[in-house]
Amino acid sequence: MKIISSPLELKKYLKNKNLSIGFVPTMGALHDGHISLIKKAKKQNDLVVVSIFLNPTQFCKNEDLDKYPKKDEADKHICKLIGVGVLFFPQIKDIYEDDEVSLMAPKIRGYVLEGSTRPSHFNGVLTVVQKLLNIVTPTKAYFGKKDAQQLNLISLMVKQLFMSVEIVAVDTVRESDGLALSSRNCYLSTKERQDALKISASLHSAGIMVSKNILNSDEITKKMKEVLSPLEIFYVEILNRDFEQLSQVEIGNTIILVEVKIGTTRLLDNIWL
Ligand code: PAJ
Repeated sequence: MKIISSPLELKKYLKNKNLSIGFVPTMGALHDGHISLIKKAKKQNDLVVVSIFLNPTQFCKNEDLDKYPKKDEADKHICKLIGVGVLFFPQIKDIYEDDEVSLMAPKIRGYVLEGSTRPSHFNGVLTVVQKLLNIVTPTKAYFGKKDAQQLNLISLMVKQLFMSVEIVAVDTVRESDGLALSSRNCYLSTKERQDALKISASLHSAGIMVSKNILNSDEITKKMKEVLSPLEIFYVEILNRDFEQLSQVEIGNTIILVEVKIGTTRLLDNIWL
């Protein structure tokens, strides 16, 4: 496995390779969710590039940038073991200059849900993902359905900026008790970890209602909020795949999304129906 930190060096290394390239951008502290993206990229491409870059611009003031878990050596080891071809490991100065051209998230879809309480978050995500895609110029890039709004906005950016990469959506990986894997789960105390199970339980209860043909969004969100109680809820939303509100679940075109705060940790999850 080659480890490269310079964008220009990486561009040079990948130039004229004539291989299909699968790219998995991450912020490190790799877990089985990241690994499933990497494995899918491996299956579908000749060469896999993974980036590990803790992107400061997607953290708002007072967020967890400073305490975000860092596991550089373990991450390198994991990437090597699963057959990553190139690990892109840039420093902040390799990616950002003092005076930057900026990319803004779309006015509506970028400022609802997670964007409503984290106003600059998706500007930072889109900016860094665009930079990374321009450096790697992959055939396909892999993103988790767990971050459904991020996935939606990245797909929108690729379409609107006429970028030539295929975005591949990968299913959410969960612990055996249902908790979606997240680098932030390590912040949870034992009690908080137990409380966090209410998130997947609420989505499960929505799935059961839908399987009984109860499709009304108000009824479903009411039930989900009961299951989530007494957690601090940021949102429970029932949207179509274009992120528009639905009054009724449309099978094959619905995402139910939840975000809560447990202690100081924000956790999000969703199901695609
Ligand atoms: P990070 O949180 O490290 O996640 C990297 C990728 O892994 C994202 O596409 C995310 O959706 C996916 N992922 C996280 N948990 C998952 C799970 N339990 N199952 C499946 N996939 C999962 O998301 C980011 O980094 C950043 O915003 C990034 C896109 C790298 C830009 O900085």
